[in-house]
Amino acid sequence: MSTQLVEGKVVIVTGGGGGIGRAIALEMARQGARVVINDIGAGLDGAGGSATPAEETQELIRELGGEAVISTDSVSEWESAQRIVACALDSFGRIDVVVNNAGILRDTIFHKMSPEDWLSVINVHLNGSFFVSRAAAEHFRQQQSGAYVHMTSTSGLIGNFGQANYSAAKLGIVALSKSIALDMQRYGVRSNCIAPFAWSRMTSSIPAETPEQKARVAKLQQMTPDKNAPLAVYLASEAAEHVTGQVFAARHNELFLFSQTRPVRSVHSAEGWTPQDIAEHGMPALKASFIGLDRSPDVFSWDPI
Ligand SMILES: NC(=O)c1ccc[n+]([C@@H]2O[C@H](COP(=O)([O-])OP(=O)(O)OC[C@H]3O[C@@H](n4cnc5c(N)ncnc54)[C@H](O)[C@@H]3O)[C@@H](O)[C@H]2O)c1
Repeated sequence: MSTQLVEGKVVIVTGGGGGIGRAIALEMARQGARVVINDIGAGLDGAGGSATPAEETQELIRELGGEAVISTDSVSEWESAQRIVACALDSFGRIDVVVNNAGILRDTIFHKMSPEDWLSVINVHLNGSFFVSRAAAEHFRQQQSGAYVHMTSTSGLIGNFGQANYSAAKLGIVALSKSIALDMQRYGVRSNCIAPFAWSRMTSSIPAETPEQKARVAKLQQMTPDKNAPLAVYLASEAAEHVTGQVFAARHNELFLFSQTRPVRSVHSAEGWTPQDIAEHGMPALKASFIGLDRSPDVFSWDPI
């Protein structure tokens, strides 16, 4: 195996100006890739914009002796997403990998969630992942190769409070990834998801007032974004040539493969069902396999550190 896993590849990392995206961009560069660092430098809620975060990542890559360019176009619109891919082609003449990582949060309990909270999060995460993926797809098809790595979240895979917009977008991304994997397998193109865990701007709003909360946050702070980067680089590389349509998670030094939804139990009635039959017989039988109202911390109930 080559010492550098993505040597010569051209990689777009959206949201590469900070957090997990920066860590992935740096590891891609360390492993021989040329990187398009895409970031609008927005606040956590998507407002504002600055080229500085992307420039800082570029500087860090240059310090490693790597090559990187900056794209400050938003993933959340079709036209600007086209420019992100055009940036890779103009700068490096090709595109091999898209890492859909850009993200914002607008957490609000469901009955208070505004259409603006909903649309802005769907636009960056779900629509943005489609727009950038789609902009690269024709190039991938023509060259008969390419890899997508999308960031999903246990908020969508399992659940969380106050994140209807984010959870829906993140589970939508899983279906998008699977669909891309199915449609583009014939062209040698792969698509996988990672549910990352990291102490970053996105998780820094976790309260740290009581001694217990402080102790928990101190542990969480050790879950640095770079722990997610090796899996992203591996999935982008030829070493993962048989890996597609899968959902993984990375949490500190743990890696997980996630299940995907399948029927868990069935009931059958030779005469068909009335609502009363369902109440009396069907549902009591199915109930044995109901899935609880779990949140991510209920399933990831042990600390990784
Ligand atoms: N941190 C975690 O524990 C965690 C958990 C699950 C999923 N994720 C996912 O991982 C990804 C990275 O998260 P992070 O924690 O590093 O967050 P972060 O806020 O540190 O980074 C997100 C980056 O995306 C950029 N961005 C926002 N809107 C953009 C747009 N329209 N176009 C281009 N760039 C844009 C921001 O400027 C920012 O630099 C996100 O998709 C997030 O949902 C993170």
